[in-house]
Order: sequence, then C-alpha cells, then structure tokens
Amino acid sequence: MANQGKLRLGVNIDHVATVRNARGGAYPDPLRAAKIAQEAGADGITAHLREDRRHISDTDIEGLMEVLTVPLNFEMAATDEMQQIALRHKPHAVCIVPEKREERTTEGGLEVAREENHLAHFIAPLRDVGCRVSIFIAADKRQIEAAHRIGAQVIELHTGAYCDAHSEGDMATRDRELEALREMSAFAHSLGLEVHAGHGLTYDTVQPVAAFPEVMELNIGHFLIGESIFLGLEPAIQEMRRLMDEARGT
Ligand code: PXP
Repeated sequence: MANQGKLRLGVNIDHVATVRNARGGAYPDPLRAAKIAQEAGADGITAHLREDRRHISDTDIEGLMEVLTVPLNFEMAATDEMQQIALRHKPHAVCIVPEKREERTTEGGLEVAREENHLAHFIAPLRDVGCRVSIFIAADKRQIEAAHRIGAQVIELHTGAYCDAHSEGDMATRDRELEALREMSAFAHSLGLEVHAGHGLTYDTVQPVAAFPEVMELNIGHFLIGESIFLGLEPAIQEMRRLMDEARGT
C-alpha cells in the first residue's frame, strides 16, 4: 500500500553557498539558512558537496552536522574522497548523484545499470554505518531495478525533464515525463524502495508530483532560494509546504 501521509520536504541550501561564494567571505551563511528552513517546516536539509566545492564547503558540512535538528541528506558523487567524508560524518542519508565538472547542475540521473558492481561495493560501507542510501536516477525501469539490486534503500527520481518541458511550454513532453514519473514511482514502490523526487521543482510544477502517493520526500533548492529574494526564506518554504500538503490532501 502506498503511503498517503505527509510528504517530507528536504530543503537544499546549496545556492545560499553559491551566492556567498560569488564574493568569498561568510555571507549569506548556509547554516543560518538551514536553521531558518528547519523553523519554516523543512523535514530535512540537503547539501551537495561537489568535487570542485563550487558551493557547499567541507566546513559547511561540519557545521550542518553540528547544528541541525532535522536529518542531513548529504548529496555526493561516487568517489573515494566523498565516501571517506560521508563515513566520517555519518549523515542520516546520502544521495549518490552523477557529477561532471563542466555541468551547471546535476543534469541527468546516475547510470546505475552500467556501474552496478562498482556502486554495490561503494554503498555497502555507507549502509553499514547506518546511512540511508538513496540513488538519484531518471524515471527508467532499468535504472530502478539496478538500484534495487545494488541494495539502495531509496531512489530519488529526477524531475528535471518534466520541469524543463513545463517551463518551455512543451506540454506534450511535460505530460509524458509526468506519466513516466508516476509509473516509475509505483514500480519502485512495488519493489520495496522508498521513493523521493526532485530537481527543478517550483510552485507551478510541485503539485502533480506531490500527489503521487508513493513519493515520500521532495528535495527542492534552487527555486526556493531564488524565491526567498522576493518573499524571504521562511515564507517561500511555507508556501511550498502549503502546496505540497494541498496536493497530498493533508
Ligand atoms: N535532488 C537532487 C539529487 C539534486 O542533485 C538536486 C540539485 O542539487 C535537487 C534535488 C534540487 O534541485 P533544485 O535545486 O533544482 O531544486
């Protein structure tokens, strides 16, 4: 039976660090943003420590581990360096994402099916220390089956193609992408995987995804940090929370 209950909101604070790093120095402080997000109703904080440290830094991760009262979802590439950092901090959750230096953001899901052996060995120690392991993938049956085989507890479905089609006004593609997300949420759930979703979600695109009963968590960052310029961070998050609850009927 799919879960019909409250959908968790993970607030991704990477782009507070992007603005900070545009000038160097200490402002705006991602830790302060994380604390405000907690107070505004975030159920978790997500941060991606990229290999090139373009936004979140090692010190940010240390600070988050110290100050957060909600779980940290630590996004990372499947590299030895990141594995060591995760094993040292033991965050509540790790989300394995693909990473290319030249990309502006995480552009596609992870190719799990091709990397099955490597990824199975990579995530085993993370699971052993108690991290909930999530794999960020496209809404593709082959990738979901592979994620299940390697022992991931969670998959996060990439909503970027759905959101891009919406913002380009290509409604046929948007609807097709949404249908794929719907079908693959149900499929992953039927295998016993916990289903999360995220990337590119906005006030305009969140509700159809939030309405999928199998989806337990949405991770949202860039839009919320952008919207907080106009509304403030707390109201921006509260509005996202309201839209999610409305879509969910909770
Ligand atoms: N989920 C994952 C796995 C991501 O890599 C990202 C982007 O860092 C997000 C969610 C959040 O995407 P956005 O910042 O576009 O809301």
